[in-house]
Amino acid sequence: MRTPLVAGNWKLNKTESEAIELINAMMPGLEKVGGVEKLICPPFIALSSAARLLNASSIKLGAQNMFYETEGAYTGEISPTMLKDLCEYVILGHSERREYFGESNQIVNKKIKAALAHDLIPILCVGENLADNEAGKAADVISTQLRASLVGANIFDGSKLVVAYEPIWAIGTGRSATAEGANRVIRNVVRPILSGIYGAHVGNKIRILYGGSVKANNAKEYFGMSDIDGALVGGASLKAEEFVGIAEAAQK
Ligand code: PGA
Repeated sequence: MRTPLVAGNWKLNKTESEAIELINAMMPGLEKVGGVEKLICPPFIALSSAARLLNASSIKLGAQNMFYETEGAYTGEISPTMLKDLCEYVILGHSERREYFGESNQIVNKKIKAALAHDLIPILCVGENLADNEAGKAADVISTQLRASLVGANIFDGSKLVVAYEPIWAIGTGRSATAEGANRVIRNVVRPILSGIYGAHVGNKIRILYGGSVKANNAKEYFGMSDIDGALVGGASLKAEEFVGIAEAAQK
């Protein structure tokens, strides 16, 4: 009942012309993939070109970050109203934002509420680091991230929120969490917390993605799991063939 979502997080990669080239390279393959929501999240500077290119396609567009105010003296920031014109989704609370840009759960919470208020679908990223994982604290860390990021964020339709479980030690390292391990965390920790906050009806509709070194050759293992509704893909989303392969793997 949850449509799989395959999302590409391009991070700090591609100039505008390179982005156009990559979209043109992946579009024909992605268009052939049915029953899967396909999403790309290029850098801000490529969003308007991407929006024009994808206009008549089945491929959706998202941003990688956003500020929580709508306007004002916030040099260098991009607001939800600016994004709303161009895209449907926004990645929030990615571990790289938390680590390199000091984003706390409180800041992520403000961003989540601002996105929802402007009809953008947040992809909320949560996940434990290696030390927490080894100390058996993954569930605690994830629980705190989810509860603090979602406090006061009202959702009545589970399709208006996506959560990505990304164990930090598996991002860009080539060291992916096992499909069984990721599924266990999603089933036993992430989903029950969401259902506790929003009720089972809404909670069961929220899509929960896995992220961390997903590639065309391991995607099927993840998508075959009972509770993994898709993937947030970094490195492999920068190669047309890889990303199309991942989207194909999500087809039922
Ligand atoms: P990766 O990145 O696929 O390169 O590990 C995932 C992410 O950070 O969203």
